[in-house]
Amino acid sequence: MSRKAQAPKGTFDILPADSRARERVESAAAQVFARAGFGRIETPVFEDTDLFHRSVGETTDIVQKEMFTFDDLGGRSITLRPEGTAAVCRAYVEHGMHKLAQPVKLWYSGPFFRYEAPQAGRYRQFHQIGAETIGSDDPLADAEVIMLLSDLLAELEVPGVKLHLASLGSPDVRAEYRNELRTYLREHEDKVSGDVRARIDTNPLRAFDAKDEPTKGVMADAPKLIDRLSGEDLEHFGEVRGLLDAAGIGYEIDPTLVRGLDYYTRTVFAFTAEGLGAQSEIGGGGRYDGLIAELGGPDTPAIGWAAGIERILLALGEPESAERSDVFVAVAEPEQRAAALALANELRHAGLVANLDLAGRSLKGQLKQADRAGARHTVILEGDGRATMRDMESGDQREVDVARLPDELAEAR
Ligand code: HAM
Repeated sequence: MSRKAQAPKGTFDILPADSRARERVESAAAQVFARAGFGRIETPVFEDTDLFHRSVGETTDIVQKEMFTFDDLGGRSITLRPEGTAAVCRAYVEHGMHKLAQPVKLWYSGPFFRYEAPQAGRYRQFHQIGAETIGSDDPLADAEVIMLLSDLLAELEVPGVKLHLASLGSPDVRAEYRNELRTYLREHEDKVSGDVRARIDTNPLRAFDAKDEPTKGVMADAPKLIDRLSGEDLEHFGEVRGLLDAAGIGYEIDPTLVRGLDYYTRTVFAFTAEGLGAQSEIGGGGRYDGLIAELGGPDTPAIGWAAGIERILLALGEPESAERSDVFVAVAEPEQRAAALALANELRHAGLVANLDLAGRSLKGQLKQADRAGARHTVILEGDGRATMRDMESGDQREVDVARLPDELAEAR
C-alpha cells in the first residue's frame, strides 16, 4: 500500500465541523471593523524577502529563524508573510495612500507563516485578524484600536482576558536605554543563558523574554525602559492610559513587555487569555511611527494589532459546532427523489437550510441521516402530492401541504 499522505508539520486542515466557530470569529471581527470605519485590505501571501528584513528587523527571531524563504524560478528571494503590518505599509506607500484623508484605517484576515516548533496554539501556518490605523499619532488612535480588540474579545466572550500595556518611547530613548541594558547584562553575564549572552550586542531587549529562572532573576532587577521615558513620550503614554481609563478598559502596566518585532515605537500592548498555557498571548500590537518612512513613504505615524484566530478558538474551548439544519427531505419511494431535490431547492430559495439523501437509503436510513444532520424536521414525500412532516425532537408526525411548507418551516424555526 502507498504511504498515507499527510499535511506538512505544523499545519492543519480546517474541516467543516471546525469552520463554524471560525466563521463566527471572522464575522464578529468584520462587524467590529465595519462599525469603526475600517476598510478591508488583502495583500499577497508572499512578498519580496527584503520587505521583512527592513521592517520586522534583522536581529529578530522571525527574520533569523522563522521565515519560509525561497528563490522563485526567476531567482527572486520570496518569503511567505510571517506577519501583516509590513505588507500593509508597503501597500500604503505603493498606492500613495498618504494622499487619502488621514488616518487610513485598514483591517485584514488571512493565513500567515512562521517556521516555529509546533505546539498547542503555535503553528507554521496560522491565521490572524489585524487592524492598522495609519497616519495619526494621536493617543486617541491608540485607544481606539485597543478598544476594538477589547470589544471583539468581549463580544466573542473569550474568558480571562487581560490587557498588558507599556511604552517603548522613541528610537533615541530606546537606543540610550539599550546601552544601559547592555552594560547591566554584561555585569551579570555569568548568570544569564547562552542565548541571551550571545545577543547582548544585537538585541539585549529580548532577554526579557527568557524563560529560564537564572535569566529571569537577573531581568527582574534590570533597569526598565518604561522608567526612562520622558517629555512627549511620557505625555503620550499618559494620555493613552487616561483614555483607556475613561473608556473603562482595564490594563496592567507591564515594563517587561517586549514584542518580537523591531518596528515598534511608543505604545505596545498584548492581550492574554486564561488557560492557553505557554501561548497565552491572543493578540498584540503597538505603534510603529517610523515604518512607513523606512519603506520609502513620507513620515507617517501608525498603530495596529493582530490577533491569532487559532488562539481565540483555543481560549473559547473550540466549542463543537453541531451541524444544524431546518429540514431533511426524505422519500418513501425512490420515484420521489427528483421531487425531493426540487423541494429541497425550493426550501433553500426560501432561506431555509435543507438537506436530502444522496445515497439511496431506505426510509429508516434517511431518518437516521436526518438525525445526524441535526435536522429539526423531516419531510417525507409519500407520492400523489402527499407529505408527512416529522418533528425530530418530539417524534410527532402530521400530514402537510407541500405548497405551505416554506411558511410552516420558517415559522417553526
Ligand atoms: P505578533 O505578536 O507577532 O504581532 O502576532 C500577533 C498574534 O498572532 C499573536 O498574538 C498570536 O495570537 C498570533 N500568532 C503569532 N505566531 C503564531 C503562531 N506561530 N501560531 C499561531 N498563532 C500565532 C504581529 O504579527 C504584528 N504584525 C501585530 C501588529 C499589527 N502590530 C502592529 N500592527
